[in-house]
Amino acid sequence: MENEEKYLVFALCKGRLALKTLELLEEIGIHCEEMKDKNTRKLIFVNEELKLKFFLSKGPDVPTYVEYGAADIGVVGSDIIYEENRRVYEVLDLGFGKCRMCVCGPQSAKELLSHHERIRVATKYPAIAKDYFFNTKNQTVDIIKLNGSVELGPIVGLSDVIVDIVETGSTLRENGLDVLETVCPISARVIVNQVSMRMQNERICAIIDKLREHIAREEETNS
Ligand code: PRP
Repeated sequence: MENEEKYLVFALCKGRLALKTLELLEEIGIHCEEMKDKNTRKLIFVNEELKLKFFLSKGPDVPTYVEYGAADIGVVGSDIIYEENRRVYEVLDLGFGKCRMCVCGPQSAKELLSHHERIRVATKYPAIAKDYFFNTKNQTVDIIKLNGSVELGPIVGLSDVIVDIVETGSTLRENGLDVLETVCPISARVIVNQVSMRMQNERICAIIDKLREHIAREEETNS
């Protein structure tokens, strides 16, 4: 009974992913009208009836809030989950926000990759890049951390290649770069705090099950 009184707290990534997540939650009967106001600067929203709270944060901070229990549940891209490597349970693939983590660069860099040359790799995802080159490919490389517009790396001569997200491929095309290798597919995932999963198991699993059933139904309709 005590658990029923507590708020269940969701951490969502600011931006498109939060909007998609809210749409999905609405489809399973979880609403948060306050959050739909595009002009609001509020960061935290409450559904008193269902005893739910939602807050918006920068993507890389979502697993941090969930690991420390400031949020019970988080929705975030698997790129961020792999990069941050926090102690959280990853429980569901939501099937949207799909893209690929890739090694990209000019065609001329293909040879450097196949000869396992010691190349320079610019990326916003140093942990993913390190794991891919060092552990999967057994290739020693120098990783250079950037914070955005990573495509600039090979263009201005900072790096030979980049490790970055490719969604439509238009950023690469417009900058004369190509996908050279695919590291892994990416999509939005639900993560859960490890203690919350024990203490609020029934409530959390009910939501996850509803989401899972809804996604399965949608997939069936679209197939
Ligand atoms: C992401 C990513 C690529 C681009 C890929 O950048 O880092 O640059 O989107 O999308 P596309 O394949 O559809 O062109 P984001 O827009 O997040 O900005 P950033 O480069 O500043 O990180």
